[in-house]
Amino acid sequence: MSKIISGFSKLTKEEKIDWLAKTYFNNQPEIIQTLKQYWNVDNKLQQLHDDFIENTISNFYMPYGIAPNFVINGRDYVIPMVVEESSVVAAASLVAKYWSTRGGFKTEVISTTKIGQVHFMFAGNKTDLETYFQEQKPKLHNATASITKNMEKRGGGILEIQLIDKTDKLANYYQLHVTFETKDSMGANFINSCLEAMANQFRNDKIDIVMSILSNYVPECIVKAEVSCKVEDLGGENPQKFAQKFEQAVKIAEIEPYRAVTHNKGIMNGIDAVVLATGNDFRAIEAGAHAYASKDGQYKSLTHCSVKDGVFKFWIEIPLALGTVGGLTSLHPMAKLSLDMMQKPSARNLMQIIATAGLAQNFAALRALTTKGIQHGHMKMHLQNILNQLGASIEEKEEITTYFESKTVSHSAVVDKFNEIRK
Ligand code: MEV
Repeated sequence: MSKIISGFSKLTKEEKIDWLAKTYFNNQPEIIQTLKQYWNVDNKLQQLHDDFIENTISNFYMPYGIAPNFVINGRDYVIPMVVEESSVVAAASLVAKYWSTRGGFKTEVISTTKIGQVHFMFAGNKTDLETYFQEQKPKLHNATASITKNMEKRGGGILEIQLIDKTDKLANYYQLHVTFETKDSMGANFINSCLEAMANQFRNDKIDIVMSILSNYVPECIVKAEVSCKVEDLGGENPQKFAQKFEQAVKIAEIEPYRAVTHNKGIMNGIDAVVLATGNDFRAIEAGAHAYASKDGQYKSLTHCSVKDGVFKFWIEIPLALGTVGGLTSLHPMAKLSLDMMQKPSARNLMQIIATAGLAQNFAALRALTTKGIQHGHMKMHLQNILNQLGASIEEKEEITTYFESKTVSHSAVVDKFNEIRK
């Protein structure tokens, strides 16, 4: 029997759940129970979350953790992180503390320009198009006046409109390539509204508009975060060796794409967690970061390292198009709390905090990888997850954790040890 349904979005939440249970779960009552278990008891709060998307039937919990002890440009921060991977917050906290006694993180916003494009087809003479574009330019600005008014009051708006010829790559294809400053908002709605207004103004009998949309590739919205100290201050048994191996690990990620992807994934562990906690668009950040990592024609590390004249330096340069006003940042109470926790940052401040979280996460991963190996820390967390799944008591957890300090953690080994104790 077909499971296709019409008018689903018009059903009530209860009706949607009933349909799901009947159609895909043989009407098992546990399904309904589980979904409802995650409803918020506060109806108003639940309604708020229901309205974020269509067809909401429940909430999906993710842990919300905090990493204290970050020092960024001399100011102390606690950074909120939403992430399911067990080692991420622990790593961020450890590295924050480590660098807090070595001068902290130094950050700098390099640029904040965002981009949008009107893509169109024009089969006529290019000079005619150029003349038409010059005529239209002031009108394109006028067409967006009501949209840009408030943004201009905040110091933002449209920076430049260019006509770009792409006909060498695709027949008849041109663009209006538009740059924007969107201040504290991520600016997606603002940019898209401006572009659509421009497209309406620009179209004529010969100009066939294909689409108008912002670009998530933002190579002119860049932030840098850095840590540095004397090699001898890195600590450990052999700081020289540590610095050397660390630098080698970064250099490998600069030239070897297989490694670079995993290396950058580790950076995004830190970045996405804060992006999520602040209600920003993590897919936009991911897309932009990975595109930037490929800007030289080969996918490369987003971080870099140098060890020169006895000084260890490690830094990241990454595009981050973020907002601290508008969108979910003000609607979601937890996103608002995250921003309050970080002392209500401007978008520029948030770029710096989030780049720091990425750099810290990468430092933690490379430190582990080039010393004890990654599994040492991961397995410690994994062990706790297994013990929780097994329902181990506090005493059992203590005993089993001590037992595995000198042994390799595997799921079956933990289960065996647990069963042995329970006997
Ligand atoms: C795991 O989520 C992230 C790492 O693989 C990153 C890395 O290898 O650099 C540990």
